[in-house]
Amino acid sequence: MYTSTDAKPWTVPMLADAKRDGRKLVMLTAYDAGFARVMDDNGVDLVLVGDSLGMVVQGHDSTLPVTVDDVAYHVACVSRGLERALLIADLPFGADATPERALDASLALLRAGAAMVKLEGAGHKLEVIRFLVEREIPVCAHLGLTPQSVLRLGGYKVQGREDAAAKKILADALEVAKAGAALLVLECVPSQLAAAITLASPIPTIGIGAGAACDGQVLVLHDLLGANTGHRRPKFVKNFLAEGGSIAGAVKAYAEAVRSGAFPDAAHAYE
Ligand code: KIV
Repeated sequence: MYTSTDAKPWTVPMLADAKRDGRKLVMLTAYDAGFARVMDDNGVDLVLVGDSLGMVVQGHDSTLPVTVDDVAYHVACVSRGLERALLIADLPFGADATPERALDASLALLRAGAAMVKLEGAGHKLEVIRFLVEREIPVCAHLGLTPQSVLRLGGYKVQGREDAAAKKILADALEVAKAGAALLVLECVPSQLAAAITLASPIPTIGIGAGAACDGQVLVLHDLLGANTGHRRPKFVKNFLAEGGSIAGAVKAYAEAVRSGAFPDAAHAYE
């Protein structure tokens, strides 16, 4: 259970400590200082300025139109609201297409206040991860459903249901850790696969639609509050405002449910 005495500011090495000690990591997305402050005060460990901002803040149909400047603007806003949580920033579509581009974008996001950047995929992104980590930029990887692949995937679908696809995601998870990633988001994969990856992975896994066995969980703020974003609401989303009674209460209820293992239950996960 989170108490104010746990309020030591998060650093990147503490992620490995949390995995070793079996402490669940609580992560949410934020886009401004006000909500970031509520998260910081109510037990959220990791705050992500996701490129989901393209869909929930800017009103686009996908994350593809988001630019580095967009993310940097929101990172600067969010960083002013945080004292304790670790701030992670998404590298938007195309910004990680080459190691050099990724370095320039990551420096802009770190200058804006981020402590870590997140990028989607493995394959040629392994070189990007290595390049950034060798240059002292902490990296969070993101596998499973990678929303920046929406054109190739033809939609937002659960990944890793077939044996070969599951094996590939597991192999990629080990590769991103080997390349130097310090954290791994697993999005929309069957719970059993996420559990196997979490067991095998030397770095903490953060699930979103990936079941309860992950080392932590993340949700998009608007989904946690049941806001109508104009997009289909996936199965893994839970509105915590109903039980929390206020925005702070919803964040607290989510943090407690992640820490106790109550969220996600089977109704908010994929088999
Ligand atoms: O962009 C985002 O908000 C994300 C989370 C859903 C993990 O990548």
